[in-house]
Amino acid sequence: MSFDSLQLRNALGRFATGVCVITASPEGHAPFGMTVNSFSSLSLTPPLVLWSLQKNSDTMEAFRVARQYCVNILSQEQKALSGRYAKKGDHALRAEEFTIGESGLPVLRHSLASFECDMDARHDGGDHIILVGRVTHMTVATGGRPLVFYEGGYRELV
Ligand SMILES: Cc1cc2nc3c(=O)[nH]c(=O)nc-3n(C[C@H](O)[C@H](O)[C@H](O)COP(=O)(O)O)c2cc1C
Repeated sequence: MSFDSLQLRNALGRFATGVCVITASPEGHAPFGMTVNSFSSLSLTPPLVLWSLQKNSDTMEAFRVARQYCVNILSQEQKALSGRYAKKGDHALRAEEFTIGESGLPVLRHSLASFECDMDARHDGGDHIILVGRVTHMTVATGGRPLVFYEGGYRELV
C-alpha cells in the first residue's frame, strides 16, 4: 500500500487525544508554552511520561538546553490557550496565566492536571525528537472536562 504524509496524518487523526501545553523556562529563555497532543504516559515505576517535538520547531533550542519541563493537560475552557501556543512566532507565557510550581517550573493555571518533570532522556524519532520526563511533582484539579483533539479539530466530551 502506498500513501503520502498527508494521508498518513489524516489516518492518524482518527486517534482522539487530549491536548497539553508543555511549559518551561530554561536558562536564557523567558517562560514559554508549546501546544502538543503527542503526550503519553510511559511508566508508573519509575514515573515517566513522554511527548515528541518537531525538529523544525522554533522551540527546539530551548528544549535542547532545558533540564525540566511541565506538562499541563488542558480543559475545554482552555481552548484559546491551545491556539495561542500552537502559533509560530510568540510562545511567551503571560504572567497571569501561570504560577511557579514546586520545582520552579511555570505551571498553567486552571489545567486539569500538571506534571513537573526532570528531563530524563531525548531520543531520535524521525522528524521529531522524543522527550522523556521523570515526574517530580504534580497538581491535579477536581472536576473539569478535557479538551479533545480529533480529525484535525477540537472536540468536547458530552
Ligand atoms: C492540537 C495540536 C497538537 C500539536 N501537537 C504537537 C506535537 O505533539 N508536537 C509538536 O512538535 N508540535 C505539535 N503541534 C504544533 C505546535 O503546537 C507548534 O505550535 C507549531 O510547531 C508552531 O511552530 P513552532 O513550534 O516553530 O513555533 C500541535 C498543534 C496543535 C494545534
